Amino acid sequence: MPSRSIRLNGTTVQADYESAGSGSSQSSEQLLDWLRNRQSQRGPRFGCGLAQCGACTVLLDGAVTRSCVRQMHTVADGAEIRTLDGLADGRRQHPLQRAFVELQAAQCGFCVNGMVMGSLGWLEGRIAAGNTAVPTEQETKDFLSGAAPDNTRNYLCRCGTHTRIVAAVRAAAKEMTG
Ligand code: FES
Ligand code: FES
Repeated sequence: MPSRSIRLNGTTVQADYESAGSGSSQSSEQLLDWLRNRQSQRGPRFGCGLAQCGACTVLLDGAVTRSCVRQMHTVADGAEIRTLDGLADGRRQHPLQRAFVELQAAQCGFCVNGMVMGSLGWLEGRIAAGNTAVPTEQETKDFLSGAAPDNTRNYLCRCGTHTRIVAAVRAAAKEMTG
């Protein structure tokens, strides 16, 4: 069984994974399955399995990644992965987590992993690029729908709580950029 050394939420873990074939015909376990089944990560979720909904989102070397379609053999040795499970700083929740709770942005909660981790990658990317303005309501809607120039992926909420999700993302952005 092939193996990689991966930094998962700040801890180095040995990543054993199922793989078959070699070269261009190689295929292997999806990153989402590896995270949930081998690393007990419960944040990323299986929604569509087709990179269409965002429920499985994690950050891979800082990049927003849909883990349901990312095969383990394509994850580099030494890669850094962040999941919702590791987002809080000890008992202190991340601003995004607090905002989602305080503004009751979730109904069933299934989409929340993607909403939070996708927003995290988006907001951190803006801040790293020197944009410390709180995103406008329209910018946030464009981000969630995949229409923003710096994000072409959409995030689905089957319960239709997008209005509160937009408010939560903007409230967290205010704290992250303040
Ligand atoms: S489960 Fe990965 S994008 Fe839907
Ligand atoms: S809160 Fe149910 S899918 Fe978003």
